[in-house]
Amino acid sequence: MIYFMWKFRDRPGYRGSPEALHNTPLEITWTVIPTLIVVWIFWEGAVGYLDMTRIPKGTVDINVTAEKWKWSFKYENGGQNSFVKMGENDIPVLVLPVNQDVKLIMQSVDVLHSFYIPAFRVKRDVVPGRYSYLWFRPTKEGVYDLFCTEYCGDSHSKMIGKVEVVSQEGYKKALEKAIQEPEDPLERGALLYKRLGCSSCHYAGKEGAKGPGPSYNGSWGKTVQLENGSEVAFDENYVRESILNPQAKARKGYGSASPMNSYVGRVKDVQIDALITFIKSLEQEAAPAK
Ligand code: CUA
Repeated sequence: MIYFMWKFRDRPGYRGSPEALHNTPLEITWTVIPTLIVVWIFWEGAVGYLDMTRIPKGTVDINVTAEKWKWSFKYENGGQNSFVKMGENDIPVLVLPVNQDVKLIMQSVDVLHSFYIPAFRVKRDVVPGRYSYLWFRPTKEGVYDLFCTEYCGDSHSKMIGKVEVVSQEGYKKALEKAIQEPEDPLERGALLYKRLGCSSCHYAGKEGAKGPGPSYNGSWGKTVQLENGSEVAFDENYVRESILNPQAKARKGYGSASPMNSYVGRVKDVQIDALITFIKSLEQEAAPAK
């Protein structure tokens, strides 16, 4: 720009031309070359897009459920995902077989979420009220990050997971493990606390840490205040009711919390019993030593 300012500056004896000059070979060049580049980019993009959209036959199908604020995965044999500890939190793990086409059937039970595995270059919205699909073929064993990439409320940034790509052998073992639920009520309750997603809102730390929902710790056997000003005994019946009909008796101070979904039809009686056992056990741990 500076060069042209200097070259065509106003000076005695110099007259600029008022008309634009043409240079046909130059104009053809700067039209044809970019056109070819754009067509090439479109072609590559279209082929890639169609490949992502057309789901092949014979895939390993896995159900993905998004919920404030956790991912859960159900395998073809009905088993559910395991967890891995990351700092204070338990992160869900999706195990996948290497070199097999995988299809995810995804649904959300509340708001819009988005499933994203950066290493696989795959991302798709998970929309309430409909299924959305995603397929890919993991080609390298390893552990990869999974994110929710749609802002979905208080703990959106904690809605993460790990994707573990394993050998065919390893995948078979993971499937076997996924259908088991411990017989022991306390172990079962501790697993369900993570599996059902309670842990993403109701913290169970020793001090009864305040999360998006009331803590699992520090209330058992006491009388607790409710949002509507009344009181209720925190016992088996209150816990059961709060799982099946969470809005019936909201705890004081949590009236503006994101509403919890009912677990009617998603949790069996024996599982509720296990959760109650788990909540009780926390109270014993927290009790001061004699
Ligand atoms: Cu789910 Cu952000």
